[in-house]
Amino acid sequence: MDDKTGLPPSYSVVPEVSRWRRGKLRRSKTLRFLAIGCLAFIAYAQFRQLSSSSAASTNPDITAHGLSVKRLHEDLATCSKLRQKPQDPIGPGRDKNARYIDGHAPTLIKNATVWVGEPAKGTSAEDARKGKGYSWIKADVFMEHGLIKRVENSIALSSVADDTIVFEAHGRPLTTGIIDMHSHAGVGPLPELVGWEDSNEGGSDITPYVRSIDAMQPGDHQIQVIKSGGVTTSLILPGSANNMGGEAYVFKHAVGKPDGRNETSAEDMLADPDRNWRFMKMACGENPKRVYGKYGEHGPTSRMGESWEFRHAFEQASKYIHEQDDWCDAVAAVGVQNVKGYLPQEIRWESLAALLRGQVHLNVHCYTIPDLEAFIDHTNEFKFIIRAFHHAHQTYLVPEILKRAYGGTPPASALFADNMWYKAEAYIASEYAGKYLYDNGLTPIYVSDNPVTNAQHVLFEAAKGYKYGLPYHAALAAVTTAPAERLGFGQRLGKVKPGFDADIVVWDSDPLSVGAVPVQVWIDGTAQLKDPVELRKPAPELIVPDESLSEIVEEPVVMADVIFTGVAKVLLDDREPQGLAEDGKTYNVVVSEGKITCIGRCDTELQASAKSNIPIVELMNGHLTESFTALGSTLGLNGIDMEKDTDNGPNVNVFSRAEDGLLLDVKKLHVSYKYGVTKAISAPKFSSAGTHHGTSVGFLTGAVTALDNGAVFASDVGVHYTLDTPAKRGEGTPSLSAAVGALRRKLLEAAAANQSSAAATSTAEAYSEASFLKKVINGSLPLLITAHSADAIAAVLKIQSELYEATSGWAIRVVIIGGAESWLLAEELAEAKVGVVLAPLQSYANTWAERRALTGAPLTNGTAIDRLVDAGVVTAIGLEEDYIVRDLGLLAGIAYRNGGGRLTEKGALDLISGNVYKMLGLEKQPKADEGHFVVFEGSPLDIGSRVKAVGGGEFKGGVSVF
Ligand SMILES: *[C@@H]1O[C@H](CO)[C@@H](O)[C@H](O)[C@H]1NC(C)=O
Ligand SMILES: *[C@@H]1O[C@H](CO)[C@@H](O)[C@H](O)[C@H]1NC(C)=O
Ligand SMILES: *[C@@H]1O[C@H](CO)[C@@H](O)[C@H](O)[C@H]1NC(C)=O
Ligand SMILES: *[C@@H]1O[C@H](CO)[C@@H](O)[C@H](O)[C@H]1NC(C)=O
Repeated sequence: MDDKTGLPPSYSVVPEVSRWRRGKLRRSKTLRFLAIGCLAFIAYAQFRQLSSSSAASTNPDITAHGLSVKRLHEDLATCSKLRQKPQDPIGPGRDKNARYIDGHAPTLIKNATVWVGEPAKGTSAEDARKGKGYSWIKADVFMEHGLIKRVENSIALSSVADDTIVFEAHGRPLTTGIIDMHSHAGVGPLPELVGWEDSNEGGSDITPYVRSIDAMQPGDHQIQVIKSGGVTTSLILPGSANNMGGEAYVFKHAVGKPDGRNETSAEDMLADPDRNWRFMKMACGENPKRVYGKYGEHGPTSRMGESWEFRHAFEQASKYIHEQDDWCDAVAAVGVQNVKGYLPQEIRWESLAALLRGQVHLNVHCYTIPDLEAFIDHTNEFKFIIRAFHHAHQTYLVPEILKRAYGGTPPASALFADNMWYKAEAYIASEYAGKYLYDNGLTPIYVSDNPVTNAQHVLFEAAKGYKYGLPYHAALAAVTTAPAERLGFGQRLGKVKPGFDADIVVWDSDPLSVGAVPVQVWIDGTAQLKDPVELRKPAPELIVPDESLSEIVEEPVVMADVIFTGVAKVLLDDREPQGLAEDGKTYNVVVSEGKITCIGRCDTELQASAKSNIPIVELMNGHLTESFTALGSTLGLNGIDMEKDTDNGPNVNVFSRAEDGLLLDVKKLHVSYKYGVTKAISAPKFSSAGTHHGTSVGFLTGAVTALDNGAVFASDVGVHYTLDTPAKRGEGTPSLSAAVGALRRKLLEAAAANQSSAAATSTAEAYSEASFLKKVINGSLPLLITAHSADAIAAVLKIQSELYEATSGWAIRVVIIGGAESWLLAEELAEAKVGVVLAPLQSYANTWAERRALTGAPLTNGTAIDRLVDAGVVTAIGLEEDYIVRDLGLLAGIAYRNGGGRLTEKGALDLISGNVYKMLGLEKQPKADEGHFVVFEGSPLDIGSRVKAVGGGEFKGGVSVF
């Protein structure tokens, strides 16, 4: 064993002749031969000892049983290692961080507003939990030797070393580096390529012995992107395909010489070079049975089978521990001279045994109640501790089960804020889970699961946690102190205090505000960003925590007539308020029979309402907006993303109409409506979510069936094709060139048909692909192309101009959905009057086709939306996954806050309402006047806003009020 690194004992094939050994079955023939060979050798050695006993007794290196004394002593040393119980490594008390690189100058950050990460001294635990004693403080921060040395008001320059680097924070917010407790960065580098994908070891379901560090690619550019979001430390886990996925490691995101390190290596990135704790990942539920089970051959094909796999593996590891302990006890009792064999060691069970010995922090991916309950049962049967359940969507429903966990401390819940519905086990979930867990004395932690979501923005998950009712301090804790503590780094990471590692972020705005971006990031006291891009923003205003966000109203009440007072802003398309309310600052909004009848002073209506007892909703900083529209999602065509039975299905080789597949009244549509997204325009998917093929339909998300009054507000909105990577899956289009060629041919045929056919088309034919394409040609329908790469978009622009030539001057209307690389063609798109729906708004080069995406400040000067808006391209925000429907307002907020004044508030809201119709050339849309509006408390662009009312049009019978 390497004492310095704490690496596991090296593998050796040992003849197991010890009388303390419990019968062990060897499966491998090779091992059996080796064992027999060794037995023969020992017999021979013993014979030699007997035959020349005087010689043996004089050889001090060999025992009477013919064993190496040196090796027995090594084994004995291993015994004490095996029984060691790690402690959290110390923070305060160090002169130097073990990660410190000699020669790095100290840094003094002047004039910061600091979030320390713990309440003021003397705050009781009970008060602290409620958030009392936490505050932002004015302070300077001095870092030296990789540690925070001083956090004080006004540190004099004369009191620090001459070579100290001074950073002026100008009063901006300063926090500790963000910790992401669930990431696959480096083991699944981006853009995703088969050759780089190493997240899961597919050789077997039970692989506790594989290690994420062995696949860690320090050169993964995503590590730099993640750091640019203020994330300094991540737990890099194996994936969740296996029941037992393997060992995990905590890394810091400083890589190689450019980041101030001595070498480019995974080992150099270890957050704790002494490796006090080890980490492991396990997973239960859908993945392992889907990936490994083979019916009739081997399990697991069910959750029952998975539990057996777990218990069987734990049983093996327990046996292994007993064998080792028996050996160690025996040696302690009789001495090395008198044992008949070496310490049993087998690398296959070494890591799992270390877990059972309490040396490994276990993180388990489990969603559902049965998964959670079974796993808690395993902890008590085999006596081990879980640090956190990950994905953990249903933990908020069963705090009692968590509290039964072995060890007395219930596991934390590592969550997404609102990413759900993607598979059956993610269908029962709540955006309020963080708050409900916290209310039950449990610990919510927000994680990225990078590349599932972009870890660069994991802090935004915490911000949404706050929006959904978790106290402000607990939301910040959920990406700082809580993961630090759960990882065993509670004395080193997560706080801005002397003795802690000097991982620091200075932000351009409150870290839990929409669009917060680091100005600079330090790891172990070394600044990480060379020439960071700073966005133009007003001086940061810190959020005053709004405790009323924790008052959750899950279901609204429908009111035909209602009056809203305290509306500070009216952001409708074509309706201005008539005068101010009595306070001279706000407006009143009167709703009658579900429609807005007055905005402004509305004296007459108010007087009339007093008589008829019409309810009045008093708002703080109310905002009245158009309702929002989701374009390009699978809303209306799917219930649970991965469950075929709940889905309209793929249309790889057929062209169909979304209206023919409408599938309404599911959870994601109820949520859309509740979050003010009352309209959606969806197309059938080509192969998977985020691909399209057929005609889209515009429908109301609140409808129960397609026959509800006004449920379909636009049939056949546009004609969709996909030229993104999955396009290569089409029949007859095995390549992108074939897919582009097929599209050109169809359009030219349609143009020819349009010119030649005077004959009226039959009714049946009116619904054919050719017929819809004719409408594209004659300009009555837009052509929507799903594509990310600038190459594919360039091909589309060429087709557009070829058609222009072929039809002597007819420009077809084109819209791009996806558009990660569209910014490269911003001018060309503007000139061709092509609209772009960015889906996602902030691409992170997840796929090869997106590799030139702009990930934003501080690494790049803005993102795609800034370049498109600058060029004058009509732009909208789309949804790469349906769960994002809740976040549309906040995404518009990011475009607004980080747009450097490019967009007005109304302009930002147009990205999720007006622009959608503008780019499609679609007139018809239910507007505010027809009852489609949203009333917010706070600006919908801000984190602290919430929906207070959604106008549902006639068919809802009124306004849904929360
Ligand atoms: C890093 O390199 C410098 C210069 O070669 C050397 O002095 C120092 O000991 C190294 N530090 C670590 C932590 O390896
Ligand atoms: C600290 O920053 C604030 C905000 O920019 C500024 O008003 C103040 O003068 C600064 N204080 C010092 C001591 O530089
Ligand atoms: C970023 O781009 C804008 C124009 O879009 C320009 O005005 C600004 O100077 C640029 N900022 C940096 C830091 O390059
Ligand atoms: C298509 O047909 C319509 C109606 O006959 C005609 O007005 C239009 O010019 C045609 N378009 C093209 C591109 O030929």
